[in-house]
Amino acid sequence: MKQIEKEIEDLKPWFHNLHLPDGTQTSPEHPLGDFPKFKWELIAPFIPSDLSGVNVLDIGCNAGYYSFQLARLGAKVTAIDIDEHFLKQALWASKVFGLEKNIEFKKMQVYDLAHESQTYDLIWFMGVFYHLRYPLLAMDIISRISSEMMVFQTLKMPGVEQYTSVSDLDLFKRETLLQTGWPKMAFIEERVAGDPTNWWVPNGGAIEAMLRSSNFTVNHRPDDEIFVCSRNTVVIHEEDMREKEYRAAAGIDKRN
Ligand SMILES: C[S@@+](CC[C@H](N)C(=O)[O-])C[C@H]1O[C@@H](n2cnc3c(N)ncnc32)[C@H](O)[C@@H]1O
Repeated sequence: MKQIEKEIEDLKPWFHNLHLPDGTQTSPEHPLGDFPKFKWELIAPFIPSDLSGVNVLDIGCNAGYYSFQLARLGAKVTAIDIDEHFLKQALWASKVFGLEKNIEFKKMQVYDLAHESQTYDLIWFMGVFYHLRYPLLAMDIISRISSEMMVFQTLKMPGVEQYTSVSDLDLFKRETLLQTGWPKMAFIEERVAGDPTNWWVPNGGAIEAMLRSSNFTVNHRPDDEIFVCSRNTVVIHEEDMREKEYRAAAGIDKRN
């Protein structure tokens, strides 16, 4: 066994199939196929091909596949994950690729980003939303540190999301909520595919509505579950009720 194969073996299990410079792959038998290369190929046409000087935040970076691709396009990447094992893989691979100077890996919760003062030009928020018990809080946190663009992906319910938008739901006509496509999230009390860390599966309407509600505009949808968004310019007033709630939930103010 080659030294690199032994190192890959020692760092198992792999969720990202990384193609290393010598042609070795970290997870060639991945059940989803050549993952996440096939997803990257869907998204790449919708992001700038030159990311020189662009500040990227990769949330839930796992073994770093997307961070490496973005760094190769010139971006300065900050990559966070809560899982030491995946961060170890990512750090190892960054050295194998010679990209360690372009990416800073940090062990961090998405919620910790509420305390960041820095903003990011491009936020990569893929494969994490449905793992969160507090997904809309995370979305609001991310919105506040987003200055331009976000690529978002979540597990989603099957089906189309066309529905008649209601600007003011009649308290006595709540059957409206039952119409096909009304923004909804299914709560998962137990597991999805044996994984107990999945909590919410939204439908497409809910994804688009939550993105709008957190000040993002969806510009492209490379596939059913991927949303390429821009951040709207908004002025947030600290005294608004919604802002006060956000600050309390995110632990920004000790009292409010
Ligand atoms: C399904 S994987 C997605 C990995 C990668 N973003 C992708 O799309 O291929 C979910 C990743 O998010 C990380 N994660 C889960 N909850 C998180 C949280 N609260 N904060 C930061 N990372 C989290 C996991 O450790 C894991 O690496």
